[in-house]
Amino acid sequence: MKTFIFLSVLFMLTSCNTLPTRTSTPISVDNNEIKLTQPDLQVRGELMNALKNRCSVRTFDTKALDLETLSDLLWAANGINREESAKRTAPSAVNAQDILIYVCMEQGAFIYNHEAHSLQQVSTQDLRKEIAHTQEFAQEAPISLVLVSDLSRFPFDNKEKALQLGCMDAGYVSQNIYLYCTIANLATVARGTMSTDALKEALNLNENQVPLLNHPVGYNKETIQ
Ligand SMILES: Cc1cc2nc3c(=O)[nH]c(=O)nc-3n(C[C@H](O)[C@H](O)[C@H](O)COP(=O)(O)O)c2cc1C
Repeated sequence: MKTFIFLSVLFMLTSCNTLPTRTSTPISVDNNEIKLTQPDLQVRGELMNALKNRCSVRTFDTKALDLETLSDLLWAANGINREESAKRTAPSAVNAQDILIYVCMEQGAFIYNHEAHSLQQVSTQDLRKEIAHTQEFAQEAPISLVLVSDLSRFPFDNKEKALQLGCMDAGYVSQNIYLYCTIANLATVARGTMSTDALKEALNLNENQVPLLNHPVGYNKETIQ
């Protein structure tokens, strides 16, 4: 009997070890594009625990994120979750889909293309200093996401109303980023602080495209193993 229990436990332990391990690919730019991987819907995490643990973290390690993590982060932030309507993981006022996500890192700045689930390079400049602005800790993060509302996507001329709705849309994307980071054991903080004018110029934004928030994302320097 003892031998049977021992063998059963051994079998359970070895079969756990045969579960597929997550691939970890370095991020690389090919022809001004980064092709993202499909979202890993098996990433485990429970909503109630994510809500319990969500918090702003301001201590970043410089360790790079891998391609799979960046891909999942962007899909969770505002990726397409219904192919038939191209609607997203975050709601959007009047379905304007006004939130553009810029990914800024050492290799340059990229815009998230939701349809292609890829990143298109818009600058070769590392803009993390301009994003960090007066908060140096933010520059340490390997990646910063900048949430920009494109007010021209609202189907009316009232700029004030469009900005109000754009701010709300950015808030939903921001919370998606927080919740994914919590589940993926990543550090992040929503920040209104940034060198807005410098970013507008470097990202070549037009007068309707307003940077609203940014999220440095990386591993927590205090808990990284
Ligand atoms: C719209 C918005 C703007 C924020 N801007 C900054 C910022 O510029 N710098 C910063 O360190 N934290 C910023 N924060 C984070 C808040 O300080 C933080 O959420 C708050 O202290 C509560 O902490 P918690 O997120 O851990 O609950 C911002 C949060 C929000 C929602």
